[in-house]
Order: sequence, then C-alpha cells, then structure tokens
Amino acid sequence: MNPKSHLIESLIGLGATMLIAAGLGWYMLNEPTRIVSAQEDVLAVQLDEAMTLYAENCAVCHGLNGEGIGATPALNNPALVTMPFEEIQKTIARGRYQTAMPAWSLLDGGPLSDYQIDELVLLIQYGDWTETGDRVVNLGLAPLVPFTTEADPALLEQVGALSDGATLQTAVQLFAASCVSCHGADGLGTSIAPALNDEDTRAKTADELTRTLTYGNTGTLMAGWSNTLTPEEISALITLIQRWQDVPLGTIPAPNVPIPTTEESIALGSQLFTTNCSRCHGPEGQGTPRAPSLNVQSFFVDKTDQAIQQIITNGVPGTAMPTWGDRMTEAEIQAIVGFIRQWEATAPEVATLTRPSGGPPWRNNSTATTQTTLFGLLPVPATTQNFTGHAAGNTQTSTLLDWRILLLIGILLASAFTLISKGLSSLARLKR
Ligand code: HEC
Ligand code: HEC
Ligand code: HEC
Repeated sequence: MNPKSHLIESLIGLGATMLIAAGLGWYMLNEPTRIVSAQEDVLAVQLDEAMTLYAENCAVCHGLNGEGIGATPALNNPALVTMPFEEIQKTIARGRYQTAMPAWSLLDGGPLSDYQIDELVLLIQYGDWTETGDRVVNLGLAPLVPFTTEADPALLEQVGALSDGATLQTAVQLFAASCVSCHGADGLGTSIAPALNDEDTRAKTADELTRTLTYGNTGTLMAGWSNTLTPEEISALITLIQRWQDVPLGTIPAPNVPIPTTEESIALGSQLFTTNCSRCHGPEGQGTPRAPSLNVQSFFVDKTDQAIQQIITNGVPGTAMPTWGDRMTEAEIQAIVGFIRQWEATAPEVATLTRPSGGPPWRNNSTATTQTTLFGLLPVPATTQNFTGHAAGNTQTSTLLDWRILLLIGILLASAFTLISKGLSSLARLKR
C-alpha cells in the first residue's frame, strides 16, 4: 500500500477515534450531574409550590412555621421526617376521622390534587420551615394565633367572689390562655370564630358544648381539646360559657397580636407607604397639615397592630382618611402596619409636621430615600416587585477532579499518544 495514503488513512481514523472518545467522555462527564441537577430543580420547584399550598391551606391550623396551634399538632415534628411517605400522604388525602383534620384530596371531596399532596409531604419531610413561615407572612396569611392575654387582676378577684368563683376563675384564665385568640376578648367573637358569650351559645346544652370542646368540629378551626385540657378544665370552661353574663366585661382583654414581618414585607410596606400615604401623612409619617403624625409616641400608645390594621382597612369615616380595604390586599395592609410599627422605637414625643408634598420639588428630597431599589441602583415599582418569594436557584454541583474527568483526560492522552507514534512511524516509512 502507498505509505502516503496509509498515513492519511491512519490520521483520519485516529482523529475520528479521538472525536468519539472526546464526545463519549463529555457525555459521561455531564450526564450524572445533568440528572442530579434536573432532579434538584424539580424538587426546588415542588417545595416552592408546597410552601404556597401550606400558607393557603394549612397554616391557619398548623401554624406559621408548622409549630402547631393550640390542640392542632406540629408538622415541623422530627417524627414526621422519618415516617413513611405514604402514611403522611394518606393522612393529608383522607384527613383524620372525627378530628378537625379534613380530607384534602379531590377524591375525598377536598381541593388538592394527588400531585399537590405529594408536594406537601415533601415539604413536611424536606422543607425549610423558616422559609415557609416567611412565605405565609408574605402572602398575608399569618394565623393570629396562638396569642394569649392576661385576665384583668381586679376583675378576676371580683369573679372569685361569685358562686363557684374558683371554678370561674380557673376558666377565665384558661380562656385567656387558649381560646381568646379565636373567640375574642370576653368571648365576644372575632372574624375567625363565633362569640361564646351570647344567648345562642348559652341556649345549648352542656353536653353539646362539651362534645365540641372535647372533639372539635370537623373541618373548622375548632380543634378538639381532650389532649390538652383535663375533663375538669373542660367542665370549668363550660360553666364559664353558661354563666358568662355574671362575669364583668373587661375581665378577659383583647390579646395584642403583633403582625409578623419579614425583610420583604417591610420593604413592600415602605414602598406602599411612599406611594399611597406620604402625600398626607408625610414621607416619614411626621404628619402634614392634611393628616396627623403617625411617627410620634402618642400614636402608638394603646394601639395594637390589629387596631392600626382596622383603621387603615376601614378608613376614618367623615374625614379625609380613605378606606384602603377595597384597594389593597390584607397582606399589603399588614405590610404597611409592620412598616409603621418599626417607627415606634425611634418615634419622637412631639410631632414636627412637614409641609404636604406637592410643593416645590426640593422639599420632597426625603421621599426618594424610602424607595426600595434593585441592587441599590434601579427603583423598583411596587407592581413588579417579586413579593411572594422565588424558586430556589439551581444548585448544580461540579467537582473539578471528578473520576470522569480523569478518565476523559486519560482517553485523550492515550489517543494523542497513539496518533503521534503512528504518525511518526508512518513518516519514517515514508522517508525510507
Ligand atoms: C381545620 C384545621 C386543620 C387544617 C386546615 C389542617 N389540619 Fe392537619 N391536622 C389537624 C388536626 C386537628 C390534626 C390532628 C388529628 C389527630 O388528632 O389525629 C391534624 C393532623 C395532621 C397531620 C398528622 C400529624 C401527625 O403528627 O400525625 C398531618 C401530616 C397534617 N395534619 C397535615 C396537614 C396539611 C398538609 C394541611 C394542609 C393541606 C392540614 N393538615 C390542614 C387540623 C388541621
Ligand atoms: C384556632 C381557633 C379556635 C380556638 C383556639 C378555639 N376555638 Fe372554639 N371554635 C372555633 C371555631 C371556628 C368555632 C366554630 C366551629 C363551627 O363552625 O362549627 C368554634 C366553636 C366553639 C364552640 C361551639 C360554639 C357553639 O355555639 O356551638 C365552643 C363551645 C368553643 N368553640 C369553645 C372553645 C374553647 C373553650 C376554646 C379554648 C379552650 C376554644 N373554643 C378555642 C375556633 C377556635
Ligand atoms: C387624603 C389624605 C390621606 C391619605 C392619602 C391617607 N391618610 Fe391616613 N389619615 C388622614 C386623615 C385626615 C386622618 C385623621 C382622621 C381623623 O381625623 O381621625 C388620617 C388618619 C390615619 C390614621 C389614624 C391616626 C390616629 O392617630 O389614630 C392612620 C393609622 C392612618 N391615617 C394611616 C394611613 C395610611 C397607612 C395611609 C396609606 C395607605 C393613609 N393613612 C393615607 C388622611 C390621609
């Protein structure tokens, strides 16, 4: 054979081998990380969706961070991490019979698909409860429980003087510790639970009331208390419910429930305040001739977050203070309340009003400072800010001295070596 064509032939053959080896090596190198990173991406998306599902469906009973509320058990419980996947799946899908835990699967009349239920199980077993709590807050779904209050000492003493006074006192204290967050001050009801201190409830039999209190009402916020309270305590509470008209009003005051905040919610609150409130209340809430100061000690005295939220939601009828409840979501109003509450620590004793904005532009310089910026550069308009959180980023792992890299380098070196030696020997033959 012609040695020249032999040389070309072997060069082409070896070149092709090298290409195949390189391609194969490249594929081997990437495939496992590609699979792992794709799986990680899917898990991140599922956990992200699950946090929103949790906020919308479960937080109201199982708590902000899965810590459990009242008699409803915690889900951030290590025992659930090791429990078989299917068992948790079943509990969520079908609920727990004769408890407040409802069935969630479409098959059992609930709102969630099997896929969504699986996502929730993943959250319970692999999720981050702190991040979940932030999601709940950012969506404005933080449960206003479990918040407690202290009975008024003077009135509590008066209760002791009534017949069965000791029993009533026990019940008042239990109610202040466990029930007031939902059933409200003096048992007069809240937006989430009915009044117990009223004729309708007094008309019910002790048996009926005891059953509700002991086992809860399926599918409602009313959990069963038999695990938490003794039968004597339950019976004391029933006595209180039936004799509430003897107990002076004010004995069980409203709890002061601080609205939870996150960095994101404060930033949103600041932005919403700048765009909606500062023109009347001043850029830093100092007040203007149009509207009173909010950034002053006297404003905060005796005002709970709930009270501030109520004022903003409903406005002040007959004044310039608008009703915001129909223009903003509850989450947005709570974000503003969280932002305003921050001022309390530094609020002055006496307000120094600023001129209303809309005057000469140089007077408004301070407005700009409260604007949130993206990387400190671009102003972020309220509407485009990603407020509800984000999917966790792709956490691809790449190790530099992986065995696959070593193998690839080996194959390449071997082919290069063969190529060179073949070429040299062909050259030698050519010379001869
Ligand atoms: C109306 C209140 C309520 C809501 C809403 C609720 N749960 Fe429950 N959940 C309960 C109660 C009460 C129990 C305890 C049942 C029992 O005594 O066995 C429970 C039990 C559980 C358990 C078993 C815990 C354990 O330790 O065995 C899981 C898991 C669970 N819930 C998940 C969820 C998920 C996920 C959601 C949202 C889709 C949800 N729950 C919504 C009230 C609720
Ligand atoms: C997480 C919120 C929550 C907590 C805490 C709570 N309840 Fe309830 N409770 C409810 C809701 C909601 C209902 C209405 C259930 C329904 O619609 O069937 C209810 C109903 C009741 C009823 C039945 C009222 C009626 O007219 O039939 C009684 C009695 C009662 N609760 C007592 C208590 C007592 C006592 C405590 C404290 C040990 C307590 N609850 C704690 C939410 C709560
Ligand atoms: C058009 C002007 C105007 C705008 C805009 C406005 N307010 Fe007001 N606001 C008022 C006036 C006037 C009052 C005083 C009402 C009164 O006389 O009790 C008030 C009262 C209040 C109070 C109660 C103060 C107190 O001492 O009890 C709060 C809280 C409040 N505003 C918050 C807000 C927030 C938050 C926003 C933005 C979402 C806002 N306001 C936007 C005019 C305004």
